[in-house]
Amino acid sequence: MGVNVVNVALGSRSYEVRIGQGLIASAGQHIAPLLRRRKVAVITDDTVAARHLMDLAKAFETEGITMTALTIPPGESSKGWEQFARSVEWLLEQKIERRDVVVAFGGGVVGDLVGFAAAVLRRGVRFVQIPTTLLSQVDSSVGGKTGINTPQGKNLVGAFHQPSLVLADIDVLATLPSRDFLAGYGEVVKYGLLGDAAFYDWLEINAPGMAKGDIALRQYAVHRSVEMKAGIVSRDETEEGERALLNLGHTFCHALEKATGYSDRLLHGEGVAIGCALAFELSQRLGLCSQEAPSRVRAHLRAMGMKVDLADIQGDLPGSEALLALMGQDKKVIDGKLRFILAHGIGEAFVAEDVPPDLVRGLLSEALANRR
Ligand code: GLY
Repeated sequence: MGVNVVNVALGSRSYEVRIGQGLIASAGQHIAPLLRRRKVAVITDDTVAARHLMDLAKAFETEGITMTALTIPPGESSKGWEQFARSVEWLLEQKIERRDVVVAFGGGVVGDLVGFAAAVLRRGVRFVQIPTTLLSQVDSSVGGKTGINTPQGKNLVGAFHQPSLVLADIDVLATLPSRDFLAGYGEVVKYGLLGDAAFYDWLEINAPGMAKGDIALRQYAVHRSVEMKAGIVSRDETEEGERALLNLGHTFCHALEKATGYSDRLLHGEGVAIGCALAFELSQRLGLCSQEAPSRVRAHLRAMGMKVDLADIQGDLPGSEALLALMGQDKKVIDGKLRFILAHGIGEAFVAEDVPPDLVRGLLSEALANRR
């Protein structure tokens, strides 16, 4: 199978996302044309380093490129000021200059953190994303959103800083625990639901094969997801309009993530899947889509063995009023109004600015009651 190439068309800041097998082993060849001197600085986490850093080091060595690497602890807690400061200072100590390239090698935490470090280092250096999770391959490595969390909330400090290249190596997905793979799949389903009904039909048939490890199916799903994201980002880089559709399921998800303390009770992609199911349910209650649509979404997520309902989240959850309040703190709220991505049907999402809070409260109350 060859490598698929998706262009993110952003004028002078355009870049390619290359999707295929063996891209870590050939990373040196892909990155060499970007280099003005044969040196790169890689930032990764302990988990990815243990599994894949030797392969990446070999890939650079083969091309005569000197690699230095910093390893940070895995997990969301690294995406804050401490590891950010450490990364920036380490890059300065490595004498990384304006014309050099920094490599973010890992999942969403590493990509967002390192992208932000690259954005501010010497007022901006280029960086390459080598995403190693399904979630980061289909979402966070593409589109230039970088940043860190603060005590005030997630992703509240950051910058739009587009990578110069993204290498999505399909082979690394085989090393993911099944729960992480399925959480990433939550973001894949989102693309079908938000804008491509034919892709959603395809997923209903092929996702079980993907989950079992079929490489060709995985590559197609990543390719199609990235194509959709690239199209949206090219048309609306800074989320003035259409890019908000990528937040389908996220208003519910962010409230649930806060309610579960960003712990492994609920992974981000799991929250997205539950959020998508709730967004379709809400759409149906508003008379925007048929009854069949939310049933289809739930049936597919269930068939994949994913979390679908609030009942699938272990432990206590706050009541509907408190969940609604957590949604109100979402940074995408404009003028205090709750904003949702809703849908007229599968593949037909749109931004709804003024959803009646009572309807959301009712939906959440019922979903919470079903937990008992
Ligand atoms: N993950 C949503 C976006 O990139 O806009």
